[in-house]
Amino acid sequence: MDPRLIVALDFDNQPLALELIDQLDSSQCALKVGGEMFTRFGPHFVWQLVDRQFKVFLDLKFHDIPNTVAQSCKAAADLGVWMVNVHAAGGLAMMQTARQALATYGDTRPLMIAVTVLTSMSQTDFATMGVTGDLKERVKQLARMAQEAGLDGVVSSALEVEAIKSICGPTFLTVTPGIRLATDNPNDQSRVCTPEQALKAGSDFLVVGRPITAAKDPASVVRDLLLLMKS
Ligand code: C5P
Repeated sequence: MDPRLIVALDFDNQPLALELIDQLDSSQCALKVGGEMFTRFGPHFVWQLVDRQFKVFLDLKFHDIPNTVAQSCKAAADLGVWMVNVHAAGGLAMMQTARQALATYGDTRPLMIAVTVLTSMSQTDFATMGVTGDLKERVKQLARMAQEAGLDGVVSSALEVEAIKSICGPTFLTVTPGIRLATDNPNDQSRVCTPEQALKAGSDFLVVGRPITAAKDPASVVRDLLLLMKS
């Protein structure tokens, strides 16, 4: 079974990231490489993680014309990553084209996930952008569209997992960032949940970044999270 904890490696420094990775077990957690580390350290960094047998979520949130996104997803698959994502707001045709492009990889294709509404966004931010309507309804609409395009699941807040599962079914994957303990700083995240709440809601994968990377002893935070997820 895939590990349910995804550690977001948002470090500006490779040795620090590798120091943490050296203390992690690839059977217990997956690693997420986002825009910051990929832009600084490129595919070489991803290969190092894949070589160490880690499942890698390449979180570059592609959002472009269908052909460009499809080719970008193929480039991600060629890196050997386990999960790749696009913005659902890129539309049905973009997601369908990218999904078809990955079909050629057969059983070795990465999971393909769509970002619904960023967890940093609140209902108020939504209104400021001129988007009318309820944020949760928008998440549900984008999830439905991602499913129609043949994707494996979506990124959302854990606050929306139950609603997504109720319309897309239990096997449609939910990947949830914005995970914070009650004592953690929410930072720039708006729609936050504790790990316990996320698990109870049925989230398939919990993405945790700064509560780990900003801790004095990141590996001990990972150990605590894993214990909590087992109990
Ligand atoms: O540090 P924190 O736990 O907030 O990190 C969350 C990670 O998940 C970041 O790497 C962020 O880019 C990513 N993410 C997110 N919200 C999304 C999609 C990805 O926070 N909707």
